[in-house]
Amino acid sequence: MPVTKFDIEEKYKYQNGFDSYFETEAVPNALPTAQNSPQKPPLGLYAEKLSGTAFTAPRHENKQSWLYRILPACSHPPFTAAQAPNESLGLGPEPFRRLHHIPNQLRWDPFDHDNSGSSGAESGGAHDFVSGLHLLAGAGDPAMKQGLAMYSYAAGKSMGEREAFYSADGDLLVVPQEGALDVRTEMGWLLVRPMEICVIPRGVRYQVRLIKADNGTEQPARGYALELFQGRFALPELGPIGSNGLANARDFQAPVAHFDDFDYGTTASDGPNEYRITGKFNNTLHTTTQRHTPFDVVAWHGNYYPYKYDLGRFNTIGSISFDHPDPSIFTVLSAPSDHPGTAVADFVIFPPRWLVGEDTFRPPWYHRNTMSEFMGLIRGGYDAKKGGKGGFVPGGASLHNVMSGHGPDVESYEGARNAELKPAKVGEGSCAFMFESCLMVGVTDWGLKTCQKVQAEYSDHSWGGVKVHWKGGKE
Ligand SMILES: [Fe+2]
Repeated sequence: MPVTKFDIEEKYKYQNGFDSYFETEAVPNALPTAQNSPQKPPLGLYAEKLSGTAFTAPRHENKQSWLYRILPACSHPPFTAAQAPNESLGLGPEPFRRLHHIPNQLRWDPFDHDNSGSSGAESGGAHDFVSGLHLLAGAGDPAMKQGLAMYSYAAGKSMGEREAFYSADGDLLVVPQEGALDVRTEMGWLLVRPMEICVIPRGVRYQVRLIKADNGTEQPARGYALELFQGRFALPELGPIGSNGLANARDFQAPVAHFDDFDYGTTASDGPNEYRITGKFNNTLHTTTQRHTPFDVVAWHGNYYPYKYDLGRFNTIGSISFDHPDPSIFTVLSAPSDHPGTAVADFVIFPPRWLVGEDTFRPPWYHRNTMSEFMGLIRGGYDAKKGGKGGFVPGGASLHNVMSGHGPDVESYEGARNAELKPAKVGEGSCAFMFESCLMVGVTDWGLKTCQKVQAEYSDHSWGGVKVHWKGGKE
């Protein structure tokens, strides 16, 4: 365990705000005053600019941070292709050429990644967060900076104490479902628990550790992730809702600067501490071993940084008269395409909420959508799915692709059709979420076959018994 000068209380201090311009220093006066790149940066640090957008991106889109670090990130031996990890990870450019595009509704039992038939994060076994990532579905091409990838992960152990990972392919949105993630980034620490999310921007190096239980064993983790090859997540416009509501900017949290306070040697090549850096580059993994820690950023300022958000802080809004709004009303974060109002990826949640609509079919309506809809369940049950073999349960998922019909299963429909319409709280103790995309997503071999979690009878169990209520034109 690297020695740091920070104890556990200090490392989880945060700065609050979405898309803010922050500055933070772990040692006083580490940030230069009034300029970014002085001839000699303070305290013998190097200045390094981290660009998340083109230099010339419009001011309202421009993302960058200045890092003041002990050694610059460039000081490492050449990367080499990782030995045969990609197939087992479901990574590599090949899966994107072999995706299965099928119109059927799909639903999965909880993923466990080892095909043993057991479910739950305890089967994360020998995998850490990176090796436990499995590509489930995707669209586009990271080399063209277009599209996205959807993953399931299960980790049974922390990444090595001297390991770090980054992706040149995109920003990663992580949705823990079981087990907290102790995420150390170049820019500071984030503790991300189930019912929280985090976003780690393209290029930022990080290490994911699991939390230790009282008996010293690491608590396994499982969840979902979405990698955004194009653009970045923003808060959705609020329109007539006004200036507050949904996810409020002040509830997003960014880390404060931390660094490894140990011997660095005299040059970048003779330090006493080996660190293995793994990079994801066009869906392939590459590694190098450098003689110094990547966690040496003593101070930083900018608006390009990792952040977390507690889903319990989402201000849920809905109808107080009749019908219910489109599920876009539950959007937490939206990554827009170049076409206004059309997202490469929306992250949407279905939190506990009151339903009060009069003369209203209250569950989601039957639906076909030009957008693709991938859903997961963090905890509890989901109000539109009651029955069906296997069901829609925490750790599982469903995919309703472009123009694939879906909606409440027969049991949910009949129950809602005949329900007494009193004000009712739905979803207590529950939280489903959706990755919604304007792109048609293909499913990997792993998702469709290898994981052995596809519920073969999902469609028939859900909708095969949908009743005919038509009585020849009579009520
Ligand atoms: Fe839908």
